[in-house]
Amino acid sequence: MGKRMTGTVRSVARLADGVYDLRVEAGLTNPAPGRFVHLAVPGFPLRRPISLCGCENGVARLVFAVKGGGTAAMAAWRPGDTVDLLGALGNGFPEPDGGAGKTVLVGGGIGLPPLLYYAKTHPDTHCIAGFRSAGHVILAGEFPSLELCTDDGSAGFSSYPHQRLEELLKNREPVARVLACGPEPLLKATAKVCREFGTPCFVSAEERMGCGVGACLVCVCAAGGTYKRVCKDGPVFDAAEWGETV
Ligand SMILES: Cc1cc2nc3c(=O)[nH]c(=O)nc-3n(C[C@H](O)[C@H](O)[C@H](O)COP(=O)(O)OP(=O)(O)OC[C@H]3O[C@@H](n4cnc5c(N)ncnc54)[C@H](O)[C@@H]3O)c2cc1C
Ligand code: FES
Repeated sequence: MGKRMTGTVRSVARLADGVYDLRVEAGLTNPAPGRFVHLAVPGFPLRRPISLCGCENGVARLVFAVKGGGTAAMAAWRPGDTVDLLGALGNGFPEPDGGAGKTVLVGGGIGLPPLLYYAKTHPDTHCIAGFRSAGHVILAGEFPSLELCTDDGSAGFSSYPHQRLEELLKNREPVARVLACGPEPLLKATAKVCREFGTPCFVSAEERMGCGVGACLVCVCAAGGTYKRVCKDGPVFDAAEWGETV
């Protein structure tokens, strides 16, 4: 069960059009990369899940895109506001298992924040990041090692991140494993490339959420020949079992 607490907003900064960097001081339990917080937004009955993009000296960093009313209200929070939150929740990215090579992070758009947290706490990583265009790029300069792709070729490579990953693997670059977060088509394509090359892969899945703590089953997805809860059994799943139906 996630611990419920009151946090205090320290800052809210705009990173790009419709994307915000929110810092909240809160006593999170085990704020590990890949885990998330579940935020109550006044006026909305359900909490909103947001992945940790960092956590330093008790201040959680949350980078989010405005999608609807809940995230629009969060963008209007101001320093000193109090926030009702649960966290940290879910299973984060697994620790390296000693395999040779780097951990490659494959991210798309607003999937980058949890991967940045992982990269900052595990320096032996290389990130392949994809965005729609140059104007949508966020966080890229903060990764220790990153190659940039855009769908329209306006910055970096004109390709999708999983295609760059495929090239790395074809060139026999040592890749210990892949961690992916982003839109579902990118996760599926990345999992497919990893399957073809026998590279371990873990994906951070997204579903609409209710309780966030495993009780309501709103967030179930197919995994390992059964149904699993993204909030409690994930959000990070072994790609070998994610999406595998009964
Ligand atoms: C484990 C987890 C971690 C997440 N981390 C982040 C993060 O770090 N940064 C971030 O920007 N967003 C993240 N999200 C997505 C975020 O929770 C939703 O965008 C947000 O809840 C939308 O709330 P809203 O009130 O603004 O939009 P709503 O009005 O509730 O929805 C507007 C539209 O947004 C889309 N949407 C809403 N919820 C989700 C969802 N869970 N998954 C996919 N699409 C959704 C739908 O298309 C919907 O029609 C995460 C989701 C999960 C499950
Ligand atoms: S959101 Fe309730 S079980 Fe996952």
